[in-house]
Amino acid sequence: MNYLAPSVLASDFSKLGEEVKTVSLAGADFIHLDVMDGHFVQNISFGPSVIESLRGYTDALFDVHLMVKEPIRYMERFKKAGADIVTIHYEACEDMGKTLQTIISLGMKAGIAISPDTPVEAVYEYMDLLDMVLVMSVYPGFGGQTFMEKTYERIRMIREKANEVKPGLWIEVDGGVDEHNIKAIEAVGANVFVAGSSVFHGDSAENVKKLLGMIKA
Ligand code: DX5
Ligand code: ZN
Repeated sequence: MNYLAPSVLASDFSKLGEEVKTVSLAGADFIHLDVMDGHFVQNISFGPSVIESLRGYTDALFDVHLMVKEPIRYMERFKKAGADIVTIHYEACEDMGKTLQTIISLGMKAGIAISPDTPVEAVYEYMDLLDMVLVMSVYPGFGGQTFMEKTYERIRMIREKANEVKPGLWIEVDGGVDEHNIKAIEAVGANVFVAGSSVFHGDSAENVKKLLGMIKA
């Protein structure tokens, strides 16, 4: 099953609730929420209070991508805010096993994200605990970057490994995804597609419908 996860990072923050509602009504499966701490990445976005304030605008799953150093400190707060899936960065956690267990014990789905230069093998030992692996196709921190071609091979490798040890693992791709590359990304094994600029620049409802038409066909 394929899922579309619009990233609100590219939306108009002055009307975030309406933006979330619009893409949800257009059929978006998840809402991708990029939390940046100005420390793990060189940008600051928003935190759990903003996420909590959006919860009333949609029933779509909240797919929370934490670009935060030692995110284990905030898990209860994100649970309370309404997070359904919490993805932490491999590069940002001292004790990955404990961090994942904390997410799982709070009843949320757990994901690990890997930045473009992190070997894909890093996630293999955790695969049985994971609901999702997020493969970054740009360096984390900013929307609007160009999809890195090497991501195709990285996704293919993770899907191959998942087929052996964790069939049904969700593989999410994040960064520079648009109507021109989404089918090729699907073909190598990703099934959760984050789209920021390609949804929110222009008519977001139309853009969601167009991308959904490509991945749900
Ligand atoms: C980047 C974020 C992405 C970003 C994607 O660090 O994780 O989710 O918002 O934006 P686009 O689709 O514009 O590359
Ligand atoms: Zn993201």
